[in-house]
Amino acid sequence: MAADHITQALWSATTPFRTYPQLSGDIEVDVAIVGAGITGISTAYNLARAGQRVAVLEALKVGSGTTGSSTGNLYAPVDERLYNVESKHNEETLKAVASSRSTAVDFIEQRVQEYNIDCEFKRVPWYLFSEPGNDLMAQVERERRAAEKAGLPVTDQAPAGFPFKVESITNIANQAQFNPLKYVQGLAAAIEGENCRIFEGTKVTNVEDGEPCVVHTEQGKVTAKHVVMATHSPKGIYAVHTAMEPYREYAMAVRLKGEVPAGGVYWHVQQMQHYSVRPYSNEQGNYLLVLGEAHKVGHQEHNEENFLKLEQYLTERFDVDHIVYKWAAQNYKPADVLPYIGTSPMQDHTYIATGFAADGLTWGTVAGMIITDAILEKENPWATFFDPKRFTPIASAPKFAKENISVATHLVKDWLFYGEAEQLKDIKPGEGKTIEIDDEKLAAYRDDEGKLHVVSSVCTHMGCIVHFNNAEKSWDCPCHGSRFSVEGEVLEGPAYYNLAKPDATKND
Ligand code: FES
Repeated sequence: MAADHITQALWSATTPFRTYPQLSGDIEVDVAIVGAGITGISTAYNLARAGQRVAVLEALKVGSGTTGSSTGNLYAPVDERLYNVESKHNEETLKAVASSRSTAVDFIEQRVQEYNIDCEFKRVPWYLFSEPGNDLMAQVERERRAAEKAGLPVTDQAPAGFPFKVESITNIANQAQFNPLKYVQGLAAAIEGENCRIFEGTKVTNVEDGEPCVVHTEQGKVTAKHVVMATHSPKGIYAVHTAMEPYREYAMAVRLKGEVPAGGVYWHVQQMQHYSVRPYSNEQGNYLLVLGEAHKVGHQEHNEENFLKLEQYLTERFDVDHIVYKWAAQNYKPADVLPYIGTSPMQDHTYIATGFAADGLTWGTVAGMIITDAILEKENPWATFFDPKRFTPIASAPKFAKENISVATHLVKDWLFYGEAEQLKDIKPGEGKTIEIDDEKLAAYRDDEGKLHVVSSVCTHMGCIVHFNNAEKSWDCPCHGSRFSVEGEVLEGPAYYNLAKPDATKND
């Protein structure tokens, strides 16, 4: 297979970006929204339509974060399985998950029609299936029973021409697929106006909750009655950070020698996870996408192996011509399998929307509806199920304890058993290592030209030690998922601030 791929998400490589101005000076609005992914832009749409004055503050470009790295699948089931929603909670919660997520898919379809957004939106089936010989039938059948109970249109039949061998299948009709970046770009362009101002290149550096709230950016302050943290994981320190596990997953888009399979969300159950496969066609041609190989952030350095496994998976099942794009994406798995949407304890006017696992396009849209209703003081049928202030010790306890042991272990282990003070000269081109020089904990990366890039290895969120991510050349924090470039700039996650440039930094 030719290795002429581009390390970039298919969506950002093929979608034109519209440009919005930077914030310049101080402004005052009703609601400040931090982040212009699907959560931020959906919330802005709802609020602006209701007459609220909204400012959306995006550090990079509209949709360029997690939204632009997703697979573009929209569905009512969830990554963590509907049957787990029922077993950890109850049937009422299961139905709330299915109905809120189905309504979100309808909402997206309506916006596509309302604004004629050219984003290849298509209704397709969603499949969860096992191949023969894997002993995973029970999981598929359990999900089918949960989907039936949730009122979803489900069958146990594979359609003719199904592109995998099937032992057992859950087939849910009327789900959807689109190009997520084109959708968010299209919706942002449609809503920008008198009630909704969008600022790009505007990095938020702090949020003060209060009456009013003050959002600080590098370019000025935004004073608002409410703030919405639509940043995937909320920036700053929140209780929910201790109740989520950050995961990294890998994706690739390939060209096949023959036809791509019929439209559909294909989730292939594996022992510990599933692979998500989907076709996509645009004016450049036909692609087959696969996403999988999830692992906890900062827990694997040699992530090129994850891409190799995805490639092997596809070539064993399809006649692959070549890889066109490959990329990675992050998600945050909640402790009790439900997202956190609403205000968090201690902060009455700042809303968060996080813990979406790998289902963020649909949950982000649900969050836009729930948060808008809360700000407008309207009843919402789903708000209580996803309230961040919920206390579910039975549902959350094992995972919560496990996650906090994991964080504590990283804090202690990484500090006490810090890598032997290897010499900078031992770091080979393309390698990154954490080292200690003159009592300073450093993260050192040598680029392919031999130049060293050295920053502090102490995460600016809550002080864990970052780990090197070889495939993406980044420093990733295993505690709550903050990621930094080799120059120390925040790429994503809850950290506000870049890794420090220590005095000890020297290029040899
Ligand atoms: Fe929380 Fe690094 S992301 S300590």
